[in-house]
Amino acid sequence: MKLFIFKNNDTLYEYVSSVYIKKINENPNICLGLATGSTPIPLYNLLSKSYQKRLVDFSKVKTINLDEYLGLDENNSESYRYFMNENLFKKINISGSNTYLPLGTGNIDTNISFYNNLLANNSIDLLLLGLGSNGHIGFNEPNTSFNSTTHVVKLKKSTIKDNSRLFENIKLVPKKAITMGLKDIFNAKEIFLIANTKNKEKVIKKILEGKRRQKIPASILKNHPNTTIFINSNIALKLNLTGSKYSLIEENDSYEIFDVLK
Ligand code: GLP
Repeated sequence: MKLFIFKNNDTLYEYVSSVYIKKINENPNICLGLATGSTPIPLYNLLSKSYQKRLVDFSKVKTINLDEYLGLDENNSESYRYFMNENLFKKINISGSNTYLPLGTGNIDTNISFYNNLLANNSIDLLLLGLGSNGHIGFNEPNTSFNSTTHVVKLKKSTIKDNSRLFENIKLVPKKAITMGLKDIFNAKEIFLIANTKNKEKVIKKILEGKRRQKIPASILKNHPNTTIFINSNIALKLNLTGSKYSLIEENDSYEIFDVLK
């Protein structure tokens, strides 16, 4: 894994956004795996601005999101489909038929089969991940099998609590979700994980410095051939960067890049 440590969040997002623009320009048919939550919002804002300046064209881009709450449809302002429409899709020239999220309503078995087929027929070129404070990625909660494909999850209490800040009250947070599995995530050709808030400090240290284990779903990434983790210098304060796990590859005014050993 590579680790990028940015001095501040603005430069982190500007850098990540510039990488996206370069990759989309190089491969207009790129298949992007996308995430929801607070973490990707500044990136989506920068990508929308770049589109407005005509620096990037999304007309042929395909997107496949990680997850959706069970029981919420696109008209519900707390659904992830609504989030993606509002925060990105409506602001760029992507074709609605090229954007996919798991469906959290209707026949769930059919929706799961649909998503598994979608993932079998499309390989994700670059998958964006946020991180739950308990180490979840997508909605793959601790102890999910590393071999999992799309499935329904019962959300942990900690996740319901974390995500309740976006709901009017905690009782309105769905107890279940549908998510692509850890095997699907691992199959992405390249993965970017962004973790830049204080509540991710402890789990980032466990991922980078601890063992690969199902208790920490994101630790599956330790064996992935092309994963980059983006953090800021506040989170980095907790890491043992002078230890043998980390080897410095590059540093400049904005960031340091480390190779992280398994
Ligand atoms: C939710 C999503 C995850 C996301 C996580 C972190 O649980 N299912 O995909 O990574 O929240 O959210 P935030 O970025 O708001 O911290």
